Amino acid sequence: MKISLVGAGNVGSLTAMRLAQENLGQLVLIDIAGDMACGKAYDLEDAQPILKYAYNIKGTNDIKEIKDSDLIIITAGLVRKPGMTREDLLIKNATILKSISLEIKETAPQAIIIVVTNPLDLMTYFVLKATGFNKNRVLGMGINLDAARFANLISKELNIPVTDIEASVIGTHGETMIPLPRFTNIKGVALDEFLDDKKMENLINKTKARGAQIVSLLGNGSAYFAPSAAITAVARAILKDEKRALGASAYLDGEYGLKDVTIGVPCRLGKEGVEKIIELDLTASEKKDLANSAETIRNLAKQLPL
Ligand code: LAC
Repeated sequence: MKISLVGAGNVGSLTAMRLAQENLGQLVLIDIAGDMACGKAYDLEDAQPILKYAYNIKGTNDIKEIKDSDLIIITAGLVRKPGMTREDLLIKNATILKSISLEIKETAPQAIIIVVTNPLDLMTYFVLKATGFNKNRVLGMGINLDAARFANLISKELNIPVTDIEASVIGTHGETMIPLPRFTNIKGVALDEFLDDKKMENLINKTKARGAQIVSLLGNGSAYFAPSAAITAVARAILKDEKRALGASAYLDGEYGLKDVTIGVPCRLGKEGVEKIIELDLTASEKKDLANSAETIRNLAKQLPL
């Protein structure tokens, strides 16, 4: 399998390291910034004798090297500064992703694309439209990261191991994200059995604000350890044809009563990419939240340079 990572910043290069360590395929790390990707690839290569296993990684600033990729992971673009929302990056990142999408369409028309650039759901929609690929072959990584953050915060709040928690988040990887207590379970028991309304609201707000909290603490840049782990889980599910259910930003064509929008929902992931959208049995209020979340994406999508 050939995997190209477009963008070799913190998220891209750390993802490359995780993919290399799992031996998931032949890796190409690409960045337009001088020879930075080449330097990072050499650095990653040098770790092999210490780790005592071999992998295959190349760094380049030539986007044409995506040729024959089975999977392309796009992390290129600007990250937010303290005080910014992900949505504030819309126009600048769309401009960057436009040329990348056109290049993928021409040079790697068979690839599956995982979009990571923010604002995530809008950039996923944009890459899908700009490449013209089938809807199963373009997906965004966002809400499985949010679900991991939710699980981590629940674990801290309730003092139970993270491994006992199956957290669920749907909606945008952005301001209208929807953590779902009814579908979050601890050894089969729904989270709303554990917490009163006030504590729950607090936990949900902390989950929504987690990315911004990290941006503010870092002072420069945004999160990369958990994002790279979340991307690797999505990539692994596709590359190993795991048929695993994971949250991802996927194109809806009637599912959940929504059309022509790309938003975070549970998906079955395998070698075809998004092989199925899993429809949760939402309450009227959860459905309304999802419809609102979709509406915010639709409104912002009007600004995309399509
Ligand atoms: C975050 C970025 C990846 O949530 O959106 O940290």
